[in-house]
Parts: sequence; C-alpha cells; structure tokens
Amino acid sequence: MADVKAKAGLEDIVATDSSICFIDGDRGVLSYRGYDIHDLARFATFEEVCHLLWHGHLPQKHELGDLQSQLAAARPLPEPIIRLMKMLPPGDGMDALRTLTSALAHYDADAHDNSPRASYRKAVRLTGQMASLVATWGRLQVGGGPIAPDPALGHAANFLYMLLGERPDPVAVRAMDVALVLHADHELNASTFAARVAAATLTDMHSAVVAGIGTLKGPLHGGANAEVMKMLLEIGEDAPPDRIDAFVRGKLARKEKISGFGHRVYTTEDPRATHLRQMSHDLGKRAGNLKWFAMSERIESIVKAEKKLNPNVDFYSASMYYTMGIAIDLYTPIFAVSRISGWSAHVLEQLANNRLIRPRAEYTGPAYPQTWVPLDQR
Ligand SMILES: CC(C)(COP(=O)(O)OP(=O)(O)OC[C@H]1O[C@@H](n2cnc3c(N)ncnc32)[C@H](O)[C@@H]1OP(=O)(O)O)[C@@H](O)C(=O)NCCC(=O)NCCS
Repeated sequence: MADVKAKAGLEDIVATDSSICFIDGDRGVLSYRGYDIHDLARFATFEEVCHLLWHGHLPQKHELGDLQSQLAAARPLPEPIIRLMKMLPPGDGMDALRTLTSALAHYDADAHDNSPRASYRKAVRLTGQMASLVATWGRLQVGGGPIAPDPALGHAANFLYMLLGERPDPVAVRAMDVALVLHADHELNASTFAARVAAATLTDMHSAVVAGIGTLKGPLHGGANAEVMKMLLEIGEDAPPDRIDAFVRGKLARKEKISGFGHRVYTTEDPRATHLRQMSHDLGKRAGNLKWFAMSERIESIVKAEKKLNPNVDFYSASMYYTMGIAIDLYTPIFAVSRISGWSAHVLEQLANNRLIRPRAEYTGPAYPQTWVPLDQR
C-alpha cells in the first residue's frame, strides 16, 4: 500500500463524487442540487425537495402532483407492521424505527429488486412510510390509537395530524415543513456515508436505510437534538441566568461536550441553524413562552465566547419541537423522517455508478509474524 497515513474520522477526505449536495463550510453555504438552502427554507415544500434530490430538478406542477399521490399511497402502513409496533416494549424511538424499517422490507414487493425503477419506488415508499412509522409510534407511546393518514394533506401536515391527532394549524405545518426541508440532506454525513457503504455492496435499499438509521441515532450525529432538550430541562425552565452560565461553564471546564454545538465541516454558522433559531423564537413567542428560546440563546453566547463553537442543526430544533408539543424521544426519529429523502437519493446515486467501498486501515497491532503457541503452553 502507498505511504498514506490514516486521518482520524476521515476528516476532509473526499470519498466519492456526488451531484446531490454542496457544502462550503467556511462560507456557511449549503445547497441541494445547486439551490441555496435559504431559498429552499423560504419557498420549498418537503415534497419539492424530495423531487429535487431524487431527480436533480425542481418538479413541474404535474410532477409534483404525481409525487404527492405516490407519497400519499405509501403512507398507510401494512397491518402486520402496526401489530409488530404494538408488540415492541415502550422506549427509544430510534430503536423502534430501526426495527420497523427493517420489518417493512418483508412486506415490500420490490425489496430485493435493485433496478433503478424499483429503487426509486422504494425511495418514495420508504419516505411515505417513515413519517407514518414515527407518528404512529409517537401515538402509541402516549396511549393513543394509530391514526390513518389523510391523503388530502401534505407530508408535514399529515405527519403532525397522525402524531398529534388533530388538524394542525398552518403555522405549525410550515414550521415542520421547513424543518423537514432543512434536514433532508447533508452530503457525506455519517449516516449517509453508512447508507452508501451498505448500498455499494449491492444489498437492498431497506438494509442501507437501516444502516443509516442506526448511525443517525448516535449522540454525535442526529441523537444530539434530544440531548439538547434533556440539557435544557436539566437546567430548568425557570433557571436564572447565573445558573445557566454556571451549568454551561461547568460542563466546559469538565471538558464535556455541549450537544448541539460544533461541526466537522462548518467553521462558521450552520445555515440550517439560522432558520431553526428563528423558528424556535417565532413558535415560542406565539405560544407565549420564550423561556426555552432565551435559555438557548444564552447558552449559545457562552459557548461562542468560551469555545468559538457555533450551534448546529440540532441545537434550536430541540426548543422548537418542544414548543410544538412533540415528545423528546421523537426528535431524532423526526430527523430520519426527513433524512430518508437524502439517504435514498444517495443510494440511488451510488447504485447508478457503483463500486464496492472498501478502504484500508493503517495496521498498528503486534509485529508480524508472531509465533504460534499451542493452547496448553500459553
Ligand atoms: C459535531 C462533532 C461530533 C464534530 O466533531 P469533530 O469534528 O470530530 O470535532 P472534535 O470532537 O474533535 O472537537 C474538536 C475540539 O472542539 C471541542 N468541541 C467540539 N464540539 C464541542 C462541543 N459541542 N462542546 C464542547 N466542545 C466541543 C472538542 O472538545 C475538541 O476540543 P480540544 O481540541 O480541546 O480537544 C462535535 O462538534 C460534537 O461532538 N458536537 C456535539 C454533538 C452534536 O451536536 N452533534 C450533532 C452534529 S450536527
């Protein structure tokens, strides 16, 4: 092997060509297929973003209509999946999502067909189903019954309807839609890389997505949004400013990480955080409770001053979802409800021009060759 040294965490290593997502971490630029995330957050729906990611262009009206119908058709879950969901012990939403997404493959006629058409059908189907899985799981956790999807509703509105059991108001729908747009893709983030590595073995789409879900769950990745809210609650809604300061400074002094801060790629503000901060503020104001937003802002100012670290996508989404009345255990699953669009777009791209992904390791173990010692002489 050539004299190449390993780079911890593959930092700055370019592992593939991709035409899906562009990030300039120094300028705080994020774009899907060349469209700036700020424009998408302002103007696009999640369904338009799905089309953009999967097909490479924004949909025309009839294309969007077709996609909306396909997603609506995908949303009702197979009955055995709901039964299986009821059999699982209550608890971690990501564990449930991982199991149930895997189980969906058993009821998918295209499960083992990796042709472009079948793979696309699975991308759409899994995107429709993922939202239903998370919403229905959320219902069951609070003792509610599953709610059938309403085909007349868009993806964000239907998700909130199936989760909360009532018709969501337009402000909440738009907030959820923007959150889905912002989380849809992010180049070779850890879970997307995991999904691409799996897909490159020519395994099936469900297996690749399950690899993505398992990877997203970690607190250094998508699991951070739930950790942020747990931290805010630990500090306490009515904590005075000096208690917030002491809590954050104490964590930093102990060299503990503050969830929701830092990023491998962005050296300036994560452009997604800009929108989530605003939405956290706007929803808090509307609900008549800006305490969580104010606490978040205070934490941001301390971490910026002490560590020069910016909030990432997971920081303000926490207070935003909390204000919307969403259970903390669903924050990371909601990330998956969106990121399934990006995972599947990357799987489609990988399959279109596939080569097995198989890097090397720099060996640091005992010298070769060691002398074999029989069991009774060791
Ligand atoms: C996102 C993250 C994993 C990127 O990690 P990375 O590029 O490997 O950076 P490192 O973990 O090596 O951190 C580099 C330095 O910044 C510090 N740092 C990074 N993120 C930090 C955080 N959230 N809080 C406190 N310190 C942090 C590290 O302690 C380290 O300091 P040191 O050089 O003094 O040891 C990291 O910033 C993190 O763990 N953040 C918290 C979890 C999170 O929010 N994840 C969601 C990401 S979207």
